[in-house]
Amino acid sequence: MPNRLSTPRASRRIFSNRCAGVQSIRLFGRHDARHAGWLNTLVDQVNAELRIARMAVSYQSANTFLFNTERVIVIWMAALLVLDNRFSVGMIFAFISYKDQFSSRMASLVDKVFELAMLRLHGERVADIVLSAPEETTVECEIDPASVSPSVEMRKLSFRYADGEPFILQDLDLTIPAGQCIAVTGPSGCGKTTLMKLLLGLLEPTSGEILIGGVKLGHLGLSNYRQMIGTVMQDDHLFAGSISDNISFFAETRDDERVQGSAQAAALHAEIMAMPMGYNTLVGDIGTGLSGGQKQRLLLARALYKTPRLLVLDEATSHLDVWNEVAVNASIRQLNLTRIIVAHRPETIAMAQRVVVLQQGSICQDIVQESAQVGVQDDADKMCA
Ligand SMILES: Nc1ncnc2c1ncn2[C@@H]1O[C@H](COP(=O)(O)OP(=O)(O)O)[C@@H](O)[C@H]1O
Ligand SMILES: [Mg+2]
Repeated sequence: MPNRLSTPRASRRIFSNRCAGVQSIRLFGRHDARHAGWLNTLVDQVNAELRIARMAVSYQSANTFLFNTERVIVIWMAALLVLDNRFSVGMIFAFISYKDQFSSRMASLVDKVFELAMLRLHGERVADIVLSAPEETTVECEIDPASVSPSVEMRKLSFRYADGEPFILQDLDLTIPAGQCIAVTGPSGCGKTTLMKLLLGLLEPTSGEILIGGVKLGHLGLSNYRQMIGTVMQDDHLFAGSISDNISFFAETRDDERVQGSAQAAALHAEIMAMPMGYNTLVGDIGTGLSGGQKQRLLLARALYKTPRLLVLDEATSHLDVWNEVAVNASIRQLNLTRIIVAHRPETIAMAQRVVVLQQGSICQDIVQESAQVGVQDDADKMCA
C-alpha cells in the first residue's frame, strides 16, 4: 500500500498548507517577481557560504602554520640547550609532550569560548519566550468555581500594552448580570479583543479590577475561572487530529455523546455526519480543509463541550450565514449561559439582549433591546420547528 502522504492529493494538500502564501501569490500574479526575489536570496546565501568556506580554509592554514612554526622553534631551542649540555634528551621529550598537551587544551578552551558566545546569541533569540513570566493559574483559596455566579463586573478598568503607549481602555465600568446575552461592538481597533483578553485573564489590567460573581479574578484564580468559561477567540486554532479530538480538546476520557451534543448545539452535526469519515475526519494541519463557517462552528462546539457557564465569542460567528447563526443562537440560548459576543454584523447584534458600543477606550452607548430578543427567538423557533 502506498504511503498515504505520498499520494498526489495528499502532497498537494501539504504543499498548499506549508506554502501559506502561495494562493495570494498566484492570485496577484506575483509568481515571477517572488521567484526572482527567492533566487537573489539563494545566490546571497551561496555567496555567504563560499565566503565562510574561504575563511575557514584560511583560518585552518594559519593555524597549522603557527603551530608547526612554534614546534620547529621549540625543537630548535631545545636542541641548542642539549648541545650546551643544559638539557637532557629525556627532558626535551617530557617538555614537548607537556607543551603539546597544554596547546591542545588551550585550543579547546578557545573553541569553548566561541561556543559560549554563540550560545548567548541563540539564547537572546528565544529570550522573549523563555523569560516571559509563567501564568499564575492557581491560588490558595477555598472557593468552589461551581458556587460562583457567572456575572461579570469591571471596575475602572484601564489597559495599555506597554509603558509609554496610549491607553487602549480607560476607566471602563461594565456590569453584566448572570444569564445576560450582551453584544460588544465598535470600530475596528477600538479594543474589543483587548477587552475580551482582559476578561479571560490573558492580559492583566494596568489598573482597575474584574470581579466574577462578586469575587476578584485574582482571588478566584485563573485555573478555577477557566473551568467556568468557554471561548472562541478571533485567531483561534484547531489542532491536528480528528473532529472528535478537537471538540473534546484531546481529552483523555472522551464523552462521545457530549461531543455530538456540542456539535448539534453548534449546528454542525449534520455536516459532520455527511463527511465520509464522520467524527473521525482529520482536521488541523494535515486534515481536510473546512470552510470558514465550519471551522468557526467546530471551535464553538469545542467551547460548548466544556459546559461553560460564561461564553465569550470574539467575532466567532462572522463566517456563518444568518440561518446557521440563528440556529446556533437558538440552541445556545437554551443552555442558560452568560454570553459576551463581540460582533460587527447587525444580525448578530440584533440577537443580543444588550448592546455595548466601544469607542476610544470607553463605552459610548449601552442599549437594552428586549424586543429584538423576542423577535429573534420567534425566528429561531420557526426555524427549528
Ligand atoms: N499585542 C499587542 N501589542 C500592542 N498593541 C496591540 C496589541 N494587540 C492589539 N494592539 C493594539 O490595540 C488596539 C486595539 O486592538 P484590538 O483589541 O485587537 O481591537 P479590536 O478587536 O476592537 O479590533 C489596536 O490599536 C491594536 O493595534
Ligand atoms: Mg478584534
